[in-house]
Amino acid sequence: MCGIVGYIGPQAAAPIILNGLRRLEYRGYDSAGICTVDQGGIEIRKRAGKVADLEQALHVSSMPGTTGIGHTRWATHGVPNDPNAHPHADASDTIALVHNGIIENYLTIRKKLVKAGYQLRSETDSEVLAVFIGMLYEQTGSVEQAVRAALGEVDGTFGLVVVSSREPDVMIGARRGSPLVLGIGSGEFIFASDASAIIAHTRQVVYLHDNEMAIVHRDGSYVTKTIGNEATVSAIEEIEFELDAIEKGGFDHFMLKEIFEQPNTFRDGLRGRLQLEDGNVRLGGLESVRDALRTAQRIVITACGTSWHAALVGEYLIESLARIPVEVEYASEFRYRNPIIQPNDVVIAISQSGETADTLAAIREAKMKGATVLGMVNVVGSTIARETEAGVYLHAGPEIGVASTKAFTSQLCILTQFALLLGRMRGLGQLEGRELAKELDAIPAKIQRILERVEDVEAIAREYASASNFLYLGRGVNFPVALEGALKLKEISYIHAEGYPAAEMKHGPIALIDTNMPVVFVATKDDIYDKIVSNIEEVRARSGRVIAIATEGDTHLHSVANHVIEIPETHPLLTPILASIPMQLLAYYIAVQRGCNVDMPRNLAKSVTVE
Ligand code: G6P
Repeated sequence: MCGIVGYIGPQAAAPIILNGLRRLEYRGYDSAGICTVDQGGIEIRKRAGKVADLEQALHVSSMPGTTGIGHTRWATHGVPNDPNAHPHADASDTIALVHNGIIENYLTIRKKLVKAGYQLRSETDSEVLAVFIGMLYEQTGSVEQAVRAALGEVDGTFGLVVVSSREPDVMIGARRGSPLVLGIGSGEFIFASDASAIIAHTRQVVYLHDNEMAIVHRDGSYVTKTIGNEATVSAIEEIEFELDAIEKGGFDHFMLKEIFEQPNTFRDGLRGRLQLEDGNVRLGGLESVRDALRTAQRIVITACGTSWHAALVGEYLIESLARIPVEVEYASEFRYRNPIIQPNDVVIAISQSGETADTLAAIREAKMKGATVLGMVNVVGSTIARETEAGVYLHAGPEIGVASTKAFTSQLCILTQFALLLGRMRGLGQLEGRELAKELDAIPAKIQRILERVEDVEAIAREYASASNFLYLGRGVNFPVALEGALKLKEISYIHAEGYPAAEMKHGPIALIDTNMPVVFVATKDDIYDKIVSNIEEVRARSGRVIAIATEGDTHLHSVANHVIEIPETHPLLTPILASIPMQLLAYYIAVQRGCNVDMPRNLAKSVTVE
């Protein structure tokens, strides 16, 4: 989604903003632009395309001025073209803004502006807001008051930063629904959509709350207030990750780096939590809701995309270890269908970014209906982390590749521990608990073993890189892994792929199978292994090509599948964690073979902050 950067301080603003925009590229975008304030005027350079094109074609890094804003746009209103790119200026070309979010009543405001004689230069809701602020400036004579008055009339969501040549020593940021972070340096400030664009300058940040504004001054002072003009207390927090966490560190792509980080990120998710001797788990962030967990009658998990797939695995884990009924809901559906929430329901939101608009709206709905709402979130200080009553951080570190990998396995790490904790509260014996805890503890080394054999997956990827379709099949707890494997392939290689429960193949997808259809099976040794092998035979009988993810040492599968990728043996409930690694690698190497932009696939956004 859109990325915002703003800088005010003693240094040239444009190079800092440009670097910030590069850091935000991973969020997904289609246009970029910069505005600086200098010598009594504002200058805007913007265009459709990548940040590198912006620099090459418009030489933005040499723009003069020590105050400025920049933006990467992910189109919502209006196609990705030069006029629709941000920053947008008001009619007098003295006020400019960058905006992330959607102004829902922009047509009403637009009509008001047109009636008052204003002309708009783009199709965007954001320009409407800029011109509206300009109109209100004529009435108030203050940028801050004009911004406040405009935001008071706006329906919808925004994270925005405003600059003006009329008040060149002030910069204003505000948010409702879309994230905005203020970095506080020594004598300088940098606003950004997330901390990755700030960390090169300072680790001290203020995460703005909804309906909050920050007004920062060149002299180093700043205030935070509500949009309604009441003073707020803003805690200064420290960015927890290091700069190298958001750099490629010698890998060709962030996605590959993040796949290889998984032994460590998984270990980080267990650290200080897993109690091997007791066969139990300590999740400090859930202490305050222990009673609600003990008495929960039902758990509803809500999420989007990859996080929703993790939730489906969570359903199996919680139901089998703790025997509590679980429902998994797409956040986007949950919020719109007046969900039934009962007093002893616990609602869990799973989100890598902690900013997904639908997930956020779902938890607000659940809270309003009286549920205990918990979060499993990666980004520290994110909105979902703040708005949930209690929660557990994933500790996967920044995930930059648009296709989620390490966050997914970290979600499974947390969900397994959560299920174990609930199970132990509700009758799961110490011995069973110990067995699972021991297996969990062994997972990082097993992931490492899979990663030591990437060449095998790379070779398979070469053979299938030109396929047009793929099927992914799995059963039981591995069905969501099939869904996730298909999603990974779609996202980054643009090959059509579908995930199905293996036995459902007979009810439709089997009609698609011919020599051109590769089918990926999760066929590890468990209670339903024989059934999966029968499903493989069914595909082979119709000349389909089978890639089987199998348990190490399974010789039988070599005789029925075209390719076998072995993963170490583990507890059946932990298979999804290991089985997802070769699927990530397969999608990655196929996308590389096809020359796709792995880290920034077309049309996708890392964090979807609009509904
Ligand atoms: C976007 C991303 C997906 C992600 C989903 C949910 O669609 O491209 O990779 O799974 O949002 O994001 P969240 O941050 O809530 O996990």
